[in-house]
Amino acid sequence: MKKLWIIANFKSNFTLKESLEWLSEVGPKLHSSENLKVVACPDFLSLEEFKKDCLAGGYPLMVGAQDISPFPGGAFTGEEPAQALTGIVQLAILGHSERRENFSESDQDIAKKVAQSKESGILPLVCVQSENTPIPEGVDLVAYEPVFAIGTGHPDTPENADKVAGYIRSKHPQVRVLYGGSVTQENCKAFIQRENINGLLIGSASLDPEEFLEIIEECQYGG
Ligand code: PGA
Repeated sequence: MKKLWIIANFKSNFTLKESLEWLSEVGPKLHSSENLKVVACPDFLSLEEFKKDCLAGGYPLMVGAQDISPFPGGAFTGEEPAQALTGIVQLAILGHSERRENFSESDQDIAKKVAQSKESGILPLVCVQSENTPIPEGVDLVAYEPVFAIGTGHPDTPENADKVAGYIRSKHPQVRVLYGGSVTQENCKAFIQRENINGLLIGSASLDPEEFLEIIEECQYGG
């Protein structure tokens, strides 16, 4: 059985209280599994409390950040440096198309963020929008997220997502590729059953604890 990643990206949807409520519903229902890694990525403000509750509950859930500063600590107003997140997050989503589009992040910025996160022992998950998006050196985990599929209810086809993932892996054999973009309980299985897809990055459907748990259930037995 292949190893799968299921990653919840809350984006800017939840307050701290809502993030913790989500955790109190999802955490106790997760079962630890060698083949399935589940990650939740709340906003920066929620990370520390979220992590504390995760540890207190003994939940088999990794905590991730939605971004990271391209700089180390210092005079960079408003930025969250990787070193401040060490011990709280294990993974960071980098290069999400919403950041590229709304915050003008360039491939160069993303390469710097990758370097910062690796230096602090945080696993970078780089979002690529097509097979042509550059993947910085040292990256082992990427999410193929075509812009047309994000938050639109129009996912890519599992066939095409697999084709893109296969192409990425032919150029970067060490990389595992996740799919993201309008993943739901109904379509999740069709993606993870594809040869080159090793998991899912989920936005909207991750916000509902029940739907997220259903997706995990589907993937646990259908991958
Ligand atoms: P979506 O978002 O599941 O709401 O399409 C996915 C993402 O942006 O990572």
